[in-house]
Amino acid sequence: MSEPLDVPGLVEQLTLEEKASLTLGSDFWHTAPVPRLGIPAVMVADGPHGLRKEAEGSTALGESVPATCFPTAAALASSWDVDLLREVGEALGREARAEQVAVLLGPGVNIKRSPLCGRNFEYFSEDPRLAGELGAAFVVGVQSQGVGTSLKHFAANNQETDRARVSAEVDERTLREIYLPAFERVVTLAQPWTVMCSYNKVNGVYASQHHWLLTEVLREEWGFEGLVVSDWGAVHDRPAAVAAGLDLEMPPQLGHSDALVVEAVRNGHLDEAVLDETVARVLSLVDDALADQDDPGGFDVDAHHELARRAARESAVLLKNDGVLPLELHDGQRLAVLGELARDPRFQGAGSSRVNPTRVDTPLDQLRAGVPPGVEVSFAEGGDAAVELAREADAVVMFLGLPASAESEGFDRTHMDLPAEQLELLERVAAVHDRVVVALANGSAVVTSTWDHRAAALLECWLSGQAAGGAVADLLLGAANPCGRLAETIPLRLADTASYLNFPGELGRVRYGEGVFVGYRAHDRLDQPVSYPFGHGLSYTTFDYAGLEVSQDGSHAEGDLRLRVSCTVTNSGQRAGAEVVQLYVGDPEVSVARPPRELRGFARVELAPGESARVDLDLDARDLSFWSEVVGGWVLEAGDFEISVGASSRDLRLRTTTYVDAPRVAPPLGPMSSLEEWLADPSGAAALRQVLGTTDDGRLAGMLGSPELVSVIGNFPMSTLAGFPTVDLDHATLDELVARVSGTGSATSPG
Ligand code: BGC
Repeated sequence: MSEPLDVPGLVEQLTLEEKASLTLGSDFWHTAPVPRLGIPAVMVADGPHGLRKEAEGSTALGESVPATCFPTAAALASSWDVDLLREVGEALGREARAEQVAVLLGPGVNIKRSPLCGRNFEYFSEDPRLAGELGAAFVVGVQSQGVGTSLKHFAANNQETDRARVSAEVDERTLREIYLPAFERVVTLAQPWTVMCSYNKVNGVYASQHHWLLTEVLREEWGFEGLVVSDWGAVHDRPAAVAAGLDLEMPPQLGHSDALVVEAVRNGHLDEAVLDETVARVLSLVDDALADQDDPGGFDVDAHHELARRAARESAVLLKNDGVLPLELHDGQRLAVLGELARDPRFQGAGSSRVNPTRVDTPLDQLRAGVPPGVEVSFAEGGDAAVELAREADAVVMFLGLPASAESEGFDRTHMDLPAEQLELLERVAAVHDRVVVALANGSAVVTSTWDHRAAALLECWLSGQAAGGAVADLLLGAANPCGRLAETIPLRLADTASYLNFPGELGRVRYGEGVFVGYRAHDRLDQPVSYPFGHGLSYTTFDYAGLEVSQDGSHAEGDLRLRVSCTVTNSGQRAGAEVVQLYVGDPEVSVARPPRELRGFARVELAPGESARVDLDLDARDLSFWSEVVGGWVLEAGDFEISVGASSRDLRLRTTTYVDAPRVAPPLGPMSSLEEWLADPSGAAALRQVLGTTDDGRLAGMLGSPELVSVIGNFPMSTLAGFPTVDLDHATLDELVARVSGTGSATSPG
C-alpha cells in the first residue's frame, strides 16, 4: 500500500503556482502531478452505467477499453432495488479499480423534469426520494471497492438545450423539495468522494461559481467532505469558482486558469486560505485514490455479464398483459420475432456515458436459445415479410423503440413518439394477429396511448445494457417474473406534463413555473388520467395488502418525531415474485399548495406463492414537511396526514389518516400582517380582544368582528384597517400591540 500523503505538510510546501496547478487537471482525465513533492496524478473516467476509460491516445466516444455495459439509470431505477444498485456499483467499482481509475463519473441524480430531456436515460427518476435512495446505494457500492464516485450534475441540470449557458429559474422551495433532495440524500447517506457541478446557471449564477450551492448548502448544511469537480468545460471565471467552492476544473485550461488563480491571490481578490482548502481537498482525493491502487485486482467478465442480465431483468416493467405473457410455447409451435431491434438491440444511450461492451446478447439469439425444443423462431425486420410471419405464427413478439438518433446527451427530444414506420408495422401486424406482444427499448418515456390497444402485452425494457437480450427472453418466456416499477410517469400525451409550457425555455432562461408539481405530483394534483402511473408495474403473480398500522413516537416539538407505517403483503398468486411496497404521504390541511401525495418510502419484498411478509417503513418530521420560504426552513404544520401504501401512486391499497402535532410556525406579527393573520395567532387575537373588546359570543367587538366584513377585508393589513374611520384602533395603539406580541414569541423556530 502506498504511503499516505501528509496533506497539511504538502500544502505548506507547495508554491503558489503549484497550488494553482493542482486545482486544474493535467489533461482530459488526470489530476495534476507535482513530481517535486512526489504527488502523483490520478485518473477519473466516465460512467455511470459502465466504465468509459478512453483507450490510450483516443478521444472517440466508442473507443474506450472494453467494460461491462450495465443497464442505464433509467432502467436500474425501475428495479426500485437498493441491493441491486449496490451490487452493480460494486461491480463497476471493481472494473474501475482494475483499470486504475480513481473516480467513476456518476451517478446522475437529476430529476426528470420533462420526458423530453435528452439525458433522461442517465437519470433515475422524476421523484427525488427514489433517485436519492438508489443513487446512495450505487455510491456505496462503487466506493466499497476503493474507487470514488462523482455525484452529478449539481444542480438543476434538467435539460440539454443550451445546457452550457441556460439559467434555470427556480424558486427555493422547488429546489429544496424537488431538485436538491436526491443530492442531499446521497451526500448524507454515502459521502461520494466528489460532486460534479453542472454547466448551467441556477437563478443567474453559473453552478460552478455558486457559493450558496457549493459551499453553504453542499458543505455547510449537508456536511459534504469531498471535492467538487466541474463538469467538463463548466468553468468561466476560475478565481470566482475557487471562491465559491469549486475545487477541480476539468478539463484544464492550462496556462490560463492557473495563471488567473495566481494573479487573483497576488492582487488580493482571492484569499490564499481558500485556495489552500481547495488544494487540500484535491490532495485528499489523490490520497484516497492511492490507498488501493497497488492492488488493482481484476474482475470476472462472465460474472459481470450475468449480473448485467439479472439487473436488466429486474429493471423491465410489464406495463400491460392480457394474459398472453409469459409465452407458453410447445413443440411444433411458431414464434415470430419482428423488428430490427431484436437483431441489433439498442441498449445504451449516446454521449459521454457510451460504453464499449465486453459482449452483447441479442433478443433474437436469446429467444432462440430459450424456447422449448421443437419451437420454431423466425425473424423479420419489417415490411411485408413481417406481416406474413405474424399471420402464420402462434405467438408474435415485436421489438419497438427509439432510434439512437432520437435521444442523446447534448440535445433534447421535441416529441415523445415512436418512429411512425414502427407504429405502421404494428398496425399491420395487429390486423393479422390478435395477441401481439410488444417489447420496448428506449431511454426516456414514449407515448403509448395512441397504439397500446394494439398490443396484448407491453414490456418496457428501457436501455438495459449489454445483457438486455437475455433478460427480455427470460421475462417473455417466463424463466423470470417481471418485478420492475415505473420510476417515471408515462403520460397520455406530452402536453399533459407540467413543464410543457416552460420547456426548454428561451433567451438563455428556463422558468420552472410548475414549481414542486413535477411528474405524478402534477398529474395527481390535476386529477389527470395517465397511460401508466408512477410506480406501476405488473407481475405474473398477484399481491394482497392488509393490516395497515401507523404508530407514532416522540414529538416534533422535541425534535424526535418518528412514525412507523406497517402492513402485510401476501403473494396471492401461483408464482414467486417481488412486490415493491410504496408509501405515500399527503398533507390535505396544509396552508400551502402541496401535491396530494408524495413518495416517502418503499421496500421490495420477494415472496414465494402464499408467503406473507410484514413491511415496516419509517417516517420522520422532514417527510411530513414542506420548505417555507417565509421562515427559510422546513415546516411541519399540525394536522391530519394521509398515509397510503400500495402498488403504485394510483393503486393505493390501504389508507389511513393520522394526526401529527407540531408547534405553530408563523412569521412575527407586524403592522403589515393581515387581520386574518392576527386572528389566527393566539397572542395576536388576545391582544386585539383586549383593545377592541368582545361580543357576548366571543367575537371582536365592532366592525372587525363582523363575520361578513371579515370575509371581505380579512386579508387587509392591520395598518390599513387602523386608518379606517369606523375601526376603533389607531396607529399608535397598533404599534403598541405589535411591540406587545413581538415579545411573546408567537413565531417559533422551524423544525
Ligand atoms: C458530461 C459529464 C461527463 C463529462 C466527462 C460532460 O460533457 O456532462 O456527465 O462526465 O462530460 O466526459
